[in-house]
Amino acid sequence: MLIDSHAHTCDEKFDNDREETLARAFAGGVKYIIEVGCEPESWDKVFELSRKENVFSMFGIHPQDASKFNEASLNRMKNLLNDKKCVAVGEIGLDYHYEYSPKNVQKEVFIKQMELAVEINKPVSIHCRSAYEDMLKILRTLNKIPKGVIHCFSGNLNEAKEVLDMGFLIGIDGPCTYPKSDKLKDVIANVPINKLLVETDCPYLAPQLFRGQRNEPSYVAEVAKKIAEVKGMQFEEVCNATAANTVNLFNLRS
Ligand code: NI
Repeated sequence: MLIDSHAHTCDEKFDNDREETLARAFAGGVKYIIEVGCEPESWDKVFELSRKENVFSMFGIHPQDASKFNEASLNRMKNLLNDKKCVAVGEIGLDYHYEYSPKNVQKEVFIKQMELAVEINKPVSIHCRSAYEDMLKILRTLNKIPKGVIHCFSGNLNEAKEVLDMGFLIGIDGPCTYPKSDKLKDVIANVPINKLLVETDCPYLAPQLFRGQRNEPSYVAEVAKKIAEVKGMQFEEVCNATAANTVNLFNLRS
């Protein structure tokens, strides 16, 4: 059993073949898909998609959209987070690569959503790009840390160890299949399989075999294959272990 624990199939890149794309994933062994609604403009579409069987949702405000966090969007988000198909707050975090929103706004909005996750007792999916130092600083100062995953992990092994100690899991995506991914392979080799999730983050980050093309949930198998290769495990073992981790973290029930 495979799970794509982080997908953006509501992206317009799937507008012409969303149904076929989902069908391809389910036919190819993907049992569940967790669809991410991380900007207010996409929330309704994600909510609608998550009416489908075996599709779950998460809602949050992405660091790139941090400036859209206000009382109105927060109230809307709280409603969506109440939905029974919604399994997490996400993706939330820090992105200093693009820095579409000022760093201080990103930090504030990240902290508020972490506190919200604790308040409603849901796990988080954290996006962190070029901001591991500040993310760790924030995590160290929070009174209470929710359960969650550092999605599309791109830190080093020391950073991985620190977030594992805080109780987080680590999300692995297509970049682990790229030739220049020694740092990520080092993380995969040294983190126990019961701490890893597989994700696509589609339509971005297609694995090496499909690099340059649109990514899609069925390609999550490529990520599991690479983890199996790096850890010297059977592909099926990796699929089942990461799926069990995902079901436990997000409390998935079909
Ligand atoms: Ni994402």
